[in-house]
Amino acid sequence: MRIEVTGVIKRIVTAVATVVLMVGCAGSGIPAAQSPAALLFADKCGVCHAVPHPARHRANEWPHYVALMEQRMAERNIAALSDTQRTSIMEYLSEHSR
Ligand code: HEC
Repeated sequence: MRIEVTGVIKRIVTAVATVVLMVGCAGSGIPAAQSPAALLFADKCGVCHAVPHPARHRANEWPHYVALMEQRMAERNIAALSDTQRTSIMEYLSEHSR
């Protein structure tokens, strides 16, 4: 029994440590940060707030957020995304989404 409890605690500690590590990484960088799509994403989506990590939302949720953000850009007279830019950002987001 004693050994079992220790094992469970160890597993919990490992799980918590993993989550802390993942959150830490999410804050410090985005996946494939040097790829053209990631650079475009960071350029366009880091203007008003920190660049959101793609894993923050599911692939099917991103189109909603990107459409909302295009409204925010229009409100603030920030250059709209071209179709090519939107496609590239959407592909990047869905590839690295949750
Ligand atoms: C013009 C400023 C502006 C730009 C540029 C911008 N955002 Fe936002 N974003 C906001 C504001 C303001 C909010 C707060 C919620 C709201 O008002 O819609 C927000 C909220 C969000 C949220 C929801 C909250 C969260 O943390 O999950 C996501 C996701 C997001 N932005 C993603 C993006 C992405 C992706 C892009 C690039 C396509 C982008 N943003 C570009 C202004 C901007």
